Amino acid sequence: MAANEMLRIENLHAWYGESHVLHGVNMSVNEGEVVSLLGRNGAGRTTTMRAIVGLTGARKGSIRIRGQEVVKMPPHRVARLGVGYCPEERGIFASLSAEENLMLPPAIAQGGMSVAEIYDMFPNLKERAASPGTRLSGGEQQMLAVARILRTGARLLLLDEISEGLAPVIVQKLAETIRTLKAKGYTIVLVEQNFRFAAPLADRFYVMEHGKIVREFAQHELQANKEMLQEYLGV
Ligand SMILES: Nc1ncnc2c1ncn2[C@@H]1O[C@H](COP(=O)(O)OP(=O)(O)O)[C@@H](O)[C@H]1O
Ligand SMILES: [Mg+2]
Repeated sequence: MAANEMLRIENLHAWYGESHVLHGVNMSVNEGEVVSLLGRNGAGRTTTMRAIVGLTGARKGSIRIRGQEVVKMPPHRVARLGVGYCPEERGIFASLSAEENLMLPPAIAQGGMSVAEIYDMFPNLKERAASPGTRLSGGEQQMLAVARILRTGARLLLLDEISEGLAPVIVQKLAETIRTLKAKGYTIVLVEQNFRFAAPLADRFYVMEHGKIVREFAQHELQANKEMLQEYLGV
């Protein structure tokens, strides 16, 4: 294991009931890296995130977080290793205010961001603190969903399709957020369909198809891989 390895997945298989969805996934993420997991709809990216945090059915293979095997661990214990999962559906509670949503998840590790720091990063959320979840725009809900895991002390952030369905100006703001978090030393897995969003942000890329990683390349190899990506992603 590399000294600074945050996440290593080896030969991971995962099921939803009888449905075998992941067929031997291999990937790794070093501390402080931003790694993007690309793929078409249905490739298995969300399932990979859910398998890491223990939210699929059966899992087989190996998932190590800072060297610790978690493939048999329940979700609450995985979270305590400093893993924050921001699901595709965001999970904002409609009847709670933005601030109540923010305060909802328990701290899982030392060193989480304070509410003041979070409002500094997301001034919109400060303005909207008292607004109910239903009144927030899609962009505000997405920022809240990301902000919420920053409070918990998680250092490995699994962000599923955070740019999905948002206006370009909000997507730009989220890109800035990712850069800020990287500068603060967070380790980030960016699951994206939106290649244009992920392209300038990620240090490395994995491409997934039919529940397997089919390609892997680094930021400096992006140009050389454009044609392949077009084939796999239709971008
Ligand atoms: N809860 C579920 N039960 C059964 N099959 C599922 C479930 N969620 C996703 N799948 C299937 O698993 C495959 C991978 O889906 P998913 O991981 O959501 O892909 P992606 O996030 O890359 O779009 C798809 O074929 C999808 O239909
Ligand atoms: Mg998905």
